[in-house]
Amino acid sequence: MRKPYVVTISSEKGGVGKTTLAINLAVYLKALNEDLPLTLFSFDNHFSVERLFRIGKKGGNGDVGGLFTGRRPEDLLELGEYGVQFIPSSRRLEELAEVREAGPDRVARSLAASDLEGIVIIDTRPTLDILTRNALCAADLVLIPVKDTPSLENCRNLYDFCQSQGIPKKALRLLPCLIDSRIRYKGPFTDAYQLLKAYAINRGYRCMEGFIAKSPKVESLNTNPEGRVYPILTHGRGTNVHRQFAHLARQIMLAAKGCETYRVDYIRQQQNRQREKEQFLRQRLENLLPDCLVCDRSLEEPPREQQGLFYGETADGRVCGYLEENCFTDLVFRYFYRTQKEVGGGNPLRELFRESSERSYFALRLNRGETDTAKLELCFHRFDEQGLEVSRKNIELKTFENRFLGREKTPLFRLVEKAGLLENVSADEFLLIRRMQGATAEEAFPETQYAAFRRIMGQVATRLPKDPSPSPSLADLSDAAAVHQP
Ligand SMILES: Nc1ncnc2c1ncn2[C@@H]1O[C@H](COP(=O)(O)OP(=O)(O)OP(=O)(O)O)[C@@H](O)[C@H]1O
Ligand SMILES: [Mg+2]
Repeated sequence: MRKPYVVTISSEKGGVGKTTLAINLAVYLKALNEDLPLTLFSFDNHFSVERLFRIGKKGGNGDVGGLFTGRRPEDLLELGEYGVQFIPSSRRLEELAEVREAGPDRVARSLAASDLEGIVIIDTRPTLDILTRNALCAADLVLIPVKDTPSLENCRNLYDFCQSQGIPKKALRLLPCLIDSRIRYKGPFTDAYQLLKAYAINRGYRCMEGFIAKSPKVESLNTNPEGRVYPILTHGRGTNVHRQFAHLARQIMLAAKGCETYRVDYIRQQQNRQREKEQFLRQRLENLLPDCLVCDRSLEEPPREQQGLFYGETADGRVCGYLEENCFTDLVFRYFYRTQKEVGGGNPLRELFRESSERSYFALRLNRGETDTAKLELCFHRFDEQGLEVSRKNIELKTFENRFLGREKTPLFRLVEKAGLLENVSADEFLLIRRMQGATAEEAFPETQYAAFRRIMGQVATRLPKDPSPSPSLADLSDAAAVHQP
């Protein structure tokens, strides 16, 4: 077992036996396999871990707070009695800004990055605070001691939180604890254990096999004039709780051995994926052209009133940038609908387009099969949100507005030029355009939208008609552009 298998002991109810379970399980598990590294730590501040395991007056390596401040878990370890290694508890965890500001996966990430092996047991406080959330988030197995119906009802929050973190329901196991065997009931459930188990199953919770009985022996091992904590394994042999703990430890050992995917591995993968995503996004933002792809107006300037943005990116991802809403709408009306420029703001057609464009993708692609190189032809496609083509139009791509008037390049030519479509000789190259949500470049680039954009990009690429004729060479294209000059 190279990765640590993490067992978190948690219940929002206090005094149900969490700490007693944690410290004794550590001893029993170690006894089952001496060679298995066993690490224990507690977010509780009762220092039972130290009272049982500490040899002499050690300390000073740090404590569980270090898991939040970037210390390596292996550097915080203290080797204790019975071969159990532990990270010392802390009295001041909530004073640490790193704890208050931590996400729920801080400890899991710390364990994932560590060299810890074997089994890790985490004892928690009776609240679902950020420390408990961290302990749960790292867990392969969550042991929930329940001693009565209120503690059973309390489980709901733990289940909900674990579900939100993608921890499967079967990883959570209830364990009836502090069961007073003297109490008997009439009816189908004769004792508290049977009753709690039935309640649990009725609510869809899974239980560990067996239970831990309430025993005066255990109490005396935890509270005694010496102020120490003694393990049940060494000081309670022959008792029922000894047999119950041994049975529980065997179940956990089997579960740990049978574990195929460790939670810390999953967290590590998630972390890598997140890092890649962030890096990708950062790179995209760096690549983003600073001006509107049509009018060259800087996107750093405050957005024009009631103006949205369209986003355009080439299939090869080399060129990406924004188009101001007016610029793109003008293009569409002028070249696609062949309507004159006078179709200004407030026009119902324009409003209609504004509304329908939210559900559309637009693709611009040079018709590479054009044999007459004196003419450049552009195909303008419109797709729906599923990437299915709705309409298309072939447009002659002119370089200049008017042969006789000025030398201003047409907006469509400027767009095609800026997108690099003229230089890119690949027949598969196209520019995909989509209305974005925000009014500024940063707002308009949320991760989820971009993922959808790239997905549609892939679909559009397969649906654009494949042109069998060879692509014109770069020289042909620049000739074509030259011919278009007045
Ligand atoms: N099996 C048992 N039989 C008798 N007493 C027990 C048993 N297990 C725990 N106790 C006692 O119950 C009390 C609470 O136990 P413990 O501290 O383990 O609970 P906890 O859930 O960790 O409490 P907290 O929520 O305050 O951290 C202690 O006094 C302990 O000695
Ligand atoms: Mg406790």
